[in-house]
Amino acid sequence: MAPLDRRDFARWLAAGTCTSLGIGRSAFAQQTAPIEPVCIADFRELAKAKLPGSTFDYVETGSTEQVTLRENTAAFQRLRLLPPVLSGVASTDLSTTVLGEKIALPILLAPVAAQRLYHPQGALAAARAAAAIGTILGVSSSATNSAEEVAAASTGPKWFQLYVPKDRGIARQLVERVERSGYKALIVTVDLGEWKDADRRNKFSLPPEMMRKHLRDLGYADVTDAMTPAEMSAYSTRAVDLTFDWDLFAWLRTVTKLPLIIKGVLRAEDARRAVDLGLDGIIVSNHGGRRLDGMPSSIEMLPAVAAAVDGKAEIFLDSGIRRGTDVVKALALGARAVLIGRPYVWGLAADGEAGVRKVLEILRDELQNALISCGCRSVRDVPRTLVMR
Ligand SMILES: Cc1cc2nc3c(=O)[nH]c(=O)nc-3n(C[C@H](O)[C@H](O)[C@H](O)COP(=O)(O)O)c2cc1C
Repeated sequence: MAPLDRRDFARWLAAGTCTSLGIGRSAFAQQTAPIEPVCIADFRELAKAKLPGSTFDYVETGSTEQVTLRENTAAFQRLRLLPPVLSGVASTDLSTTVLGEKIALPILLAPVAAQRLYHPQGALAAARAAAAIGTILGVSSSATNSAEEVAAASTGPKWFQLYVPKDRGIARQLVERVERSGYKALIVTVDLGEWKDADRRNKFSLPPEMMRKHLRDLGYADVTDAMTPAEMSAYSTRAVDLTFDWDLFAWLRTVTKLPLIIKGVLRAEDARRAVDLGLDGIIVSNHGGRRLDGMPSSIEMLPAVAAAVDGKAEIFLDSGIRRGTDVVKALALGARAVLIGRPYVWGLAADGEAGVRKVLEILRDELQNALISCGCRSVRDVPRTLVMR
């Protein structure tokens, strides 16, 4: 993304790049954000200036008192790095592999819903940005583009995140489509039940046409043009399985050969169970503080999960990554790679594909700088001792 000076930014807004988001010049007049984003927080300001308030709130907020949301970033900030001096390291290899896939940096894009609300190109832009930087996009089954559309948007590797349809016939067809479209793994999100005051206050929902397409894309062919938003919302609530248990994974194994990743694990015994079931990856996550409020940060739970898993599955972490130093801490405590949610949504809102690319570049450069300061030659070799107990 080219640096934006204030006049460029004004022209860019006036040119109507973001009229579909309902933003006029007044947003620019009011915005006090830095013009050239240099860190993730700058992108948050740009997104705030561009998005309608209810959409910004949907992305930003956590459940009820938002204790977990705040804890996600606070827990990273409490951890201290203790680097050895004089290591003579001048560069770091950021590349690694995840589930056998080579990536250029250990930072993936987490599955995020409703992406066409943040930018008209939505997940297609995110897919292109991920491919350009050399990483993986986790595609939400609520992304608002179909699995096939996102698959075709770039040649880069992608994982598909599943909210499991109650109707197992529809679930099977969806997973088969995902596999046929070339996705490299299936993420099953297991932390469910969002309760966000701002969204309830704002009566946040997808525009009806986006909702209709989203449901049809998942395979719900009986969603009709005549259905009202309230009817579609009720349909959607009824259609998703919120009561599945561990047996789901055995069933999924009968449907697909794709590697299976469980997303939303915080307890060591759940991680052990995932390993016993032969799952390939575990995402230590509290869904960015959007699920049960009061849960601990994922970085706090990572060491216990890593000890329980003992190298028998790949461990990933999300929730609260905002800086390259956060990535170093996660790698040191046992993650193979991390995922980001809000940071790339802010980039997408600010400038589509270029914005997401820039977010990834900023985190990549911060990570590189931090690893050199820590004397690490590779992201595959970040010692536990870097993080003070
Ligand atoms: C706006 C928004 C929508 C999300 N939608 C999904 C989703 O559809 N499926 C899912 O598994 N996780 C979803 N998540 C959670 C992310 O995958 C990820 O766990 C979280 O954003 C990580 O925290 P961070 O935002 O602090 O990086 C969503 C997160 C946000 C911010």
